[in-house]
Amino acid sequence: MSHINKLLDMNGCATAPAKVILFGEHSVVHGTPAIAVALNLRSRAHVQVEKSDSPQLTVKSPVMGLEISFSSERLNALGRSALDTNPTPLDPIALAFCHVLRSTKTKGLRATLTIDSEIPIGAGLGSSASVATSSVGAFLSALNGEIDSLQVREIAFKSEELTHGKPSGIDNTVIALGGLVYFIKGQAPERKELSAEIPLVIANTQIPRSTATLVSNVAALFKRKPKAIQYLFDSISDIVEQGLQALLKNDLEDLGELMDINHGILHALGVSHPLLDRYVWIAREGGALGAKLTGAGGGGCMIALAEDAQHADEIKQDLIKAGADAFTSVLTNKGVETC
Ligand code: MEV
Repeated sequence: MSHINKLLDMNGCATAPAKVILFGEHSVVHGTPAIAVALNLRSRAHVQVEKSDSPQLTVKSPVMGLEISFSSERLNALGRSALDTNPTPLDPIALAFCHVLRSTKTKGLRATLTIDSEIPIGAGLGSSASVATSSVGAFLSALNGEIDSLQVREIAFKSEELTHGKPSGIDNTVIALGGLVYFIKGQAPERKELSAEIPLVIANTQIPRSTATLVSNVAALFKRKPKAIQYLFDSISDIVEQGLQALLKNDLEDLGELMDINHGILHALGVSHPLLDRYVWIAREGGALGAKLTGAGGGGCMIALAEDAQHADEIKQDLIKAGADAFTSVLTNKGVETC
């Protein structure tokens, strides 16, 4: 039976955080573990729904300067993965809408969704996964009055597949659940509450890049040099296990050292960038305990670990003096939430 008859609210609203991968990006796509934490920059989605004979959706993104309406034909084609012409940047959100309708067995619904986000786009901080997650949360809260973060995570993954090709699922997982997540592709994630502060500095190179391209470059390199790259993946696996122990003990020196090694391996995998390396060195010379690129690399963001908040601020100032868009981060245990 359709859920449309038991609509609790004609509005839905949800917010979702950004994310930082501490260890294990790229190798996670190939089955090794990774660790990510939720970052308190948030996206917010608000939806108004009404009954309709057939599904229709308008998505407004003032930040991207976009407003796109999806007819029921277009939504049907998207839902059947049959839309191969004229893709729009908001297709992943429309696909999420199709999957929400499917999973809640809702037939006709006209929805207008407005999304807003303070997360830099394409910078390795999970902006696409956050916007997909808050959108799914808003749709589900309008339909059900409440949201289940695991259901949101699952549906948001469909959007991530459309955006990134073959993502591991770590971004939408940590963004939906919040806190710290130990993640292996295809397995149930292990979520832990963040108890101690992890004083991170983030510097955005503002160099645009495509996660899908970087992931496929690493896959191609793995194909060409399977033995050498497998060694690197195994090494990252070990870093992740040690990193988890260091996090649990709040051993920041150990964490920093592991971050440095992980960055070296990501460089060897071909996903660093001269500006990322420069920011890594500025942070280290400014006293960071460790620094690495985060996310897909090729541009995007660098993260540096400081001893404490005061040192984090000093490292941030050094990076800003060098022209970086740098900020200190606040991590969060809050994943997707209604608003
Ligand atoms: C992107 O945030 C992290 C990558 O490992 C890709 C993925 O896990 O899907 C590069």
